[in-house]
Amino acid sequence: MTKAGFMRKKIIAGNWKMYKTPAEAVALVDGLKKALGGQTAVDAVVCPPFVSLTEVSRVLAGSGIALGAQNLFWEAEGAFTGEISGPMIKAAGAEYVIIGHSERRQFFGETNATVNRRLKAAFSYGLKPIVCVGENLAEREAGKTFDVVKDHVTGSLAGLGKEDMNTVVIAYEPVWAIGTGKTATAAQAQEVHKFIRGIVAKLFDQATADALRIQYGGSVKPENAAELMSQPDIDGALVGGASLKADSFAAIIKNIA
Ligand code: 13P
Repeated sequence: MTKAGFMRKKIIAGNWKMYKTPAEAVALVDGLKKALGGQTAVDAVVCPPFVSLTEVSRVLAGSGIALGAQNLFWEAEGAFTGEISGPMIKAAGAEYVIIGHSERRQFFGETNATVNRRLKAAFSYGLKPIVCVGENLAEREAGKTFDVVKDHVTGSLAGLGKEDMNTVVIAYEPVWAIGTGKTATAAQAQEVHKFIRGIVAKLFDQATADALRIQYGGSVKPENAAELMSQPDIDGALVGGASLKADSFAAIIKNIA
């Protein structure tokens, strides 16, 4: 419970990245349904590759586990070869969409401006965005963590209204902790999460900041999830590698539930 009296329900999302064929995806969510047994203490989300969304949506029906995509293009349709739109993602059964993951910023030219356009598209098609922010190793070592995070948060959320923020989840993912086995300490993560909540309070208002869920991402595992999640400003996790096995993803959820 925060000062303002908000209870933020934890949200654990699995970002499968470019792993799992449709058949493998179905097997994984089948296992996950069994392992989680309809728990509702924590919001659980899986984000498979686009080609598996429809199949996974069918398997997840009635399970209480939500579905997300890993990206979207901002136009609804058109001559944009290789792109996938919000309405398509929505029709495939997804409720969430990850936007601006560091791998997209690093390898696919994503900027705050394109993140912002995708974010506004997500709202217009009724998808809940998980917006990723975070510094890389060189930026952390140069003492620029807070500058970079502030730039990502303010740039990504530019022009949004308070009511838009009701459905936004922010994921703080220090790039140096992604896939490296090198987790930020609970104290390092908490410091940045608190900072992000402060920025959101300035951009919008305190109630909006208090209600915002901020996930941590970067080498989250069953062994370190509970300590990270016990921090006052850490409201969930965006999990890569450990979300690719039903037992480890379920264990993360059970360890914090
Ligand atoms: P890992 O959990 O594999 O470090 O990946 C984190 C991540 O990038 C989730 O979006």
